[in-house]
Amino acid sequence: MDSPLWQYDEMCQVGIDYVDAAQVTAYDSTESKLRDIRNEIEDIMNYLVLTQYQTVLDFGTGTGEFAIKAAKYCEEVFAVDVSHTMLEYVHQKAKQEGLTNIQFHHAGFLTYKHLGEPLHAVVSQYALHHLPDFWKMIALRRIYKMLNKKGKFYLRDIVYSFRVDNYNNFFNNLTEKIKQSAGEKIAQDKANGIRNEFPTFDWIMEELLVKAGFHINKADYYDGFIAVYMCTKKSGTDSE
Ligand SMILES: C[S@@+](CC[C@H](N)C(=O)[O-])C[C@H]1O[C@@H](n2cnc3c(N)ncnc32)[C@H](O)[C@@H]1O
Repeated sequence: MDSPLWQYDEMCQVGIDYVDAAQVTAYDSTESKLRDIRNEIEDIMNYLVLTQYQTVLDFGTGTGEFAIKAAKYCEEVFAVDVSHTMLEYVHQKAKQEGLTNIQFHHAGFLTYKHLGEPLHAVVSQYALHHLPDFWKMIALRRIYKMLNKKGKFYLRDIVYSFRVDNYNNFFNNLTEKIKQSAGEKIAQDKANGIRNEFPTFDWIMEELLVKAGFHINKADYYDGFIAVYMCTKKSGTDSE
């Protein structure tokens, strides 16, 4: 069924274009200049403690680094992304690794329909900020409903925790730092992301998670623009 006319069109790329083949091919090497991806995945795995009978869904899976790691430890991984280019790329990677327990879905936070048993865990890294705040809330409620009663939600995203009066200096310094470590082109791409994507404030993100029904077990903020939330469903609520 088509989405109603008023629904946010998550298939339309804003900011960095993750449908672009060159962007996708360069993604892993670009990101490795800016992030410690192995460490990030370790952090997720330590929180989820996946077992062979569990299922996990990765929203905005991108090049699938987490999905591939998780597939080695659990029964099934659902890799969801609005970019078919990303999905094709991770599909090839999974094939090379001989993994057959990853389902690929061309859909997003607002359109993916989970038909199987409720999930043990949902993960999302650097993807939710592609939605404006109202739609973030809709996405979080949808995630809440896909999880089983003890389900865990791990969110890492761009969330602003710097002093807002300082935004000029903050963004100038940040883009300069990216330029130094990854070059001019990537700094321009990231500036495009700052200009056109929808990162929100730390206090809004926390409120959205709680209002969606989650208990935040741990919230960590890094460098004024990255946040990690380790959540579970709030017990004793009937917000289903
Ligand atoms: C910055 S990349 C992050 C990829 C990967 N999770 C990582 O940690 O490197 C953002 C990804 O989110 C996807 N994306 C953007 N909007 C989305 C949405 N509404 N639903 C699901 N994925 C989305 C993009 O296509 C892209 O693959």
